[in-house]
Amino acid sequence: MDNFRFLNPTRIIFGRGTENQVGREAAGYAKKVLLHYGGDSAKKTGLYDRVVNSLKAAGVEYVELGGVKPNPRLSLVREGIRLCREHKPELILAVGGGSVIDSAKAIAAGVPYAGDVWDFFTGKAEVKAAIPLATILTIPAAGSEASTGCVITNEEGWYKRAFNSEYVYPQFSILNPELAFTLPKYQVACGAADIIAHLMERYFTNTQHVEFTDRLIEATVKTIVHNVPLVLAQPDNYDAWAEVMWAGTIAHNNLLNTGREGDWASHDIEHEISAIYDVAHGAGLAVVFPAWMKYVYKHDIKRFTQFAVRIWNVDENFWSPELTILEGISRHEAFLKSLGLPTRLADMEIDTSRVEEMAAKCTSNDSSTTGHFVELHQKDVANILMLSK
Ligand code: NZQ
Ligand code: ZN
Repeated sequence: MDNFRFLNPTRIIFGRGTENQVGREAAGYAKKVLLHYGGDSAKKTGLYDRVVNSLKAAGVEYVELGGVKPNPRLSLVREGIRLCREHKPELILAVGGGSVIDSAKAIAAGVPYAGDVWDFFTGKAEVKAAIPLATILTIPAAGSEASTGCVITNEEGWYKRAFNSEYVYPQFSILNPELAFTLPKYQVACGAADIIAHLMERYFTNTQHVEFTDRLIEATVKTIVHNVPLVLAQPDNYDAWAEVMWAGTIAHNNLLNTGREGDWASHDIEHEISAIYDVAHGAGLAVVFPAWMKYVYKHDIKRFTQFAVRIWNVDENFWSPELTILEGISRHEAFLKSLGLPTRLADMEIDTSRVEEMAAKCTSNDSSTTGHFVELHQKDVANILMLSK
């Protein structure tokens, strides 16, 4: 196990009706908040009204900025920064999924920074301060409600890039599983694929002696595999949603990578797909991850055998570990497919004409590699994309 430091400061407020506490919680940080949300789902479901009523009841003023799109855009982040500089809210309240939360994080980091907020995404500058933010989560998926991550798409050139910073950990995140009842089935499935990918990116590591986190990851994947079909069949199954929502947060709040190095190549490759084709992140991952596994499994036969046996209950073939592994990968892919997800580029109506471009963008024209479990060069990324065609 590697040395590590771990602190996740986000207070989780979990359970039925908890969004009604938001005014009281926000009042501890601010007299005025920026209320940030996405399309029309929050208004349609009545969540927006409950949030506004709770803020008003607690005497918290708000300025609002809606319209965050999935794969959130830099232009709206810039608008949010302008709005914050004008109205000076002391807290940004993100009501939505990963896209709204990431947009809020970028605004939070951008407000006190004198330069262009995109600098954080290109590595030109590091986040040194951010105004506080908080979230009300409406979809278990990205894990942004308790993560250091922030992923934004720059419409100029369609670059989707991330930064990580402890400054953008939300102060508090409200998780009410009831809010997920209204999710379209496809978004549920995409969320599940993202949660599983966050777990698998951490699972495939070269770090030795990480049994505790291995077993936590395996248990978390199994929880998702058991409960997501339940919520798809019964969208108002609170108990199953509660398992999915909490597992989704733990999958990405950095607990499960303590003492181990994750991979993250599949995420980098997926970001190139969703940047260009604007597909849901989870759908892109359902396509990339199985192909990535097929491409790299020979790097560590023991770890992949463990994956197949412990996560997918494959009967170990003692004479051919490879057959055990391929059966595990096949069950993984079949599960994603059973949720209604694409598992090939063609399922998303994406052809291979821009594979080289995506591979080049992902590796800065082969001047860098992606992934830690196996370091991938431009040609490897192209090969993985071709495997997923
Ligand atoms: O915009 P609205 O109308 O709210 O609709 C949203 C959106 O269309 C809808 N939705 C959300 N909650 C709903 C609902 N519809 C009905 N009822 C509800 N309760 O779902 C759609 C997808 O929302 P989005 O926020 O895009 O989903 P998700 O949470 O999957 O976020 C995806 C983004 O997060 C990034 C992804 O790259 C992508 O841009 N990620 C962020 C990470 C992080 N910050 O740590 C890590 C992840 O790996 C990921 O990269
Ligand atoms: Zn993800």
